[in-house]
Amino acid sequence: MLALPSRCFLFCFVLQTVRWHIELQPWASPTPSLNYEASRFLKYISTSQISCEHMNLNSLKGYSETTKKPWSVCLDERFSLIHRIRSKKCRLYSLGLGNDDNQFELSMASSGCEVHRFDPSIKSAHIQQGRHLWHHRLSIDWRDPNPAIAAHKLHSNTKKLGTVLNEFGHQKIDVLKADVESAEWKILENLILEDVVEQIGQLVFEVHIHWPGFEVSGNDSTVVRYWYSLLRELELKDFRLFHTYKDLSKPQMFLKKEAFNASSCYTLSWVNTRWK
Ligand SMILES: *[C@@H]1O[C@H](CO)[C@@H](O)[C@H](O)[C@H]1NC(C)=O
Ligand SMILES: *[C@@H]1O[C@H](CO)[C@@H](O)[C@H](O)[C@H]1NC(C)=O
Repeated sequence: MLALPSRCFLFCFVLQTVRWHIELQPWASPTPSLNYEASRFLKYISTSQISCEHMNLNSLKGYSETTKKPWSVCLDERFSLIHRIRSKKCRLYSLGLGNDDNQFELSMASSGCEVHRFDPSIKSAHIQQGRHLWHHRLSIDWRDPNPAIAAHKLHSNTKKLGTVLNEFGHQKIDVLKADVESAEWKILENLILEDVVEQIGQLVFEVHIHWPGFEVSGNDSTVVRYWYSLLRELELKDFRLFHTYKDLSKPQMFLKKEAFNASSCYTLSWVNTRWK
């Protein structure tokens, strides 16, 4: 018996909607130049596209803003998240590696959200902590393992997000948080190409720009144009950036150079304005 490799097997051939590449934006200048690509991209990730007044979970419980954390969700009434939190129907997926601080996940869980953390370094397959927080020994990737190889491999803990959603029987994720050390570009590409991003209400991603990222290739201008094009795809799907955070505590590097006054690390938050 052959395991079906992914939901794409079922749908994409029939509907002919399979896409293998994102749409690349035109170069920022008539002749490709790193200066122009970098300045367009950096301006883009530093500019909110929509305003959000309420971004702090603690304010829900009457605490004042204590630490200035980059992880921000939009709790304004016009978006569904706050309503889903109040009716205890919200779900957070958090992708990352074990040693991060867990504050954001804990406060979402204590607000009543169902929180799923994906962390390949934990000891058992699934651990429940408290009423609302689960840890899963899985790492989210931009492809599923080859089924022929996976059968023989003991530690095949890697799956695409779309596959996990199907397996867990989840239709929607209210918030997807990702701090995946440079795998974010290919993961985001996979979510866009397979339309999984449409099942997500808000995205909070740490993006890394001190090197191209896993499996991103080309010269520097090509890499920056690719990053920019990915974010424009989100905009096309009616995601709007409402918060951007430049991490000044990390090395101030852009593609291995100290340049453009950039940080190696930004945290960006989007709301899906089509999402209900
Ligand atoms: C980078 O590669 C692209 C595509 O191969 C090419 O068109 C462009 O001229 C190169 N840019 C620079 C600045 O070298
Ligand atoms: C460089 O970045 C810092 C921090 O974002 C900012 O305060 C400063 O004005 C920037 N400097 C220049 C020359 O743009």
